[in-house]
Amino acid sequence: MSVSKKLQYKFSGKTTTYYFDVEFAYLEKLVDKSQAVILTDDNVFRGHQKKFKGWNTIVIPAGEAFKVQDTVNSVVDQLLTMGADRKTFLIGVGGGVVTDIAGYVAAIYMRGISFGFLPTSILAMVDASIGGKNGIDVGLYKNIVGTIRQPEFLLYDFSLLKSLPDEEWVNGFAEIIKHAAIKDAALFRELEKNKLSVYKKDKTALVKLIRRNAVIKSDVVQKDEFEHADRRMLNFGHTLGHAVENLYKLSHGQAISIGMVVASLISEAYTDFKDTDRIIDALKKYGLPTQMDFNAKEVMNVLRMDKKKVRDSMNYVLLNKVGQAVVKPIPIAELDKLLQSIITAR
Ligand SMILES: NC(=O)c1ccc[n+]([C@@H]2O[C@H](COP(=O)([O-])OP(=O)(O)OC[C@H]3O[C@@H](n4cnc5c(N)ncnc54)[C@H](O)[C@@H]3O)[C@@H](O)[C@H]2O)c1
Ligand SMILES: [Zn+2]
Repeated sequence: MSVSKKLQYKFSGKTTTYYFDVEFAYLEKLVDKSQAVILTDDNVFRGHQKKFKGWNTIVIPAGEAFKVQDTVNSVVDQLLTMGADRKTFLIGVGGGVVTDIAGYVAAIYMRGISFGFLPTSILAMVDASIGGKNGIDVGLYKNIVGTIRQPEFLLYDFSLLKSLPDEEWVNGFAEIIKHAAIKDAALFRELEKNKLSVYKKDKTALVKLIRRNAVIKSDVVQKDEFEHADRRMLNFGHTLGHAVENLYKLSHGQAISIGMVVASLISEAYTDFKDTDRIIDALKKYGLPTQMDFNAKEVMNVLRMDKKKVRDSMNYVLLNKVGQAVVKPIPIAELDKLLQSIITAR
């Protein structure tokens, strides 16, 4: 394998190796097949059944609704039935739901076993599988229970994307636009020039794009693994995004798209940022919504409960310019007024 396909990141507890653009079968070089167990969901399994031949495999039902303790219990039961022990290696093959459950189960099964990921959605490739945070939902609280523990490897087999539904491509590109907006102005310009169909057809462009995004997230995480400062930038668009996602049942990509537009408008009030139009145009280009008649009062009620609230202010991720984010405390009362004016102005 050429060197450029391999990348290593040293995190506090572990070095994670990234293998870009290798085949699923490469797994056999990384783990002992007889001691490994794959965790996947029924969509991914159905789309790529042949690849799983000869591997011990646990298949869970697809979807966020199953990122819960019941699924964890069932996976643990199946591991026990298979005779899995402390030497067993767990491999999550799937989107963010599967990688989160796999990482979480690996952290608690027999007090911790080794694990690796094969992300199969764009979102998992550029975001969910990177950074070591893995957890599950409890009731209405997303990712409220979990661990921070890094995988041994990430293996990127782009042929897995053939079965990924269109709307999941769009969801993933919302995070890609986010990365460009907070960290990489040149990437933002590339995204402005291209469109989704280009990346879908041109594999070389896609591989480069995914790799560049994996590097952006990994760099941020490496600097701030336990989220004291820099890692917060990854929440660009997510504060309001999470609120509208829950209130109005939007997909995650749609929700953070709205969140990024609002955060850009708020930036114009607090920094020298002047490029909200560019953010809006880029999001539109990739099939994401940029306008929504949400109820500012309802949204503020949710924001008041947000983890990022400190006393009467909210730490909000804003942009100084395209490619450069900054976290600023905004008094809740001002945020309230700003949201009202943003909604009436549009
Ligand atoms: N741990 C983290 O740091 C982190 C970061 C971001 C998101 N997340 C989590 O990731 C999850 C979202 O990730 P996601 O969007 O990948 O969700 P997901 O795992 O639910 O995948 C989305 C849908 O696409 C399907 N799918 C995935 N890959 C496929 C493929 N190759 N072919 C066919 N179907 C495929 C899945 O079955 C599912 O129906 C959320 O639970 C979120 O909390 C975690
Ligand atoms: Zn996100």
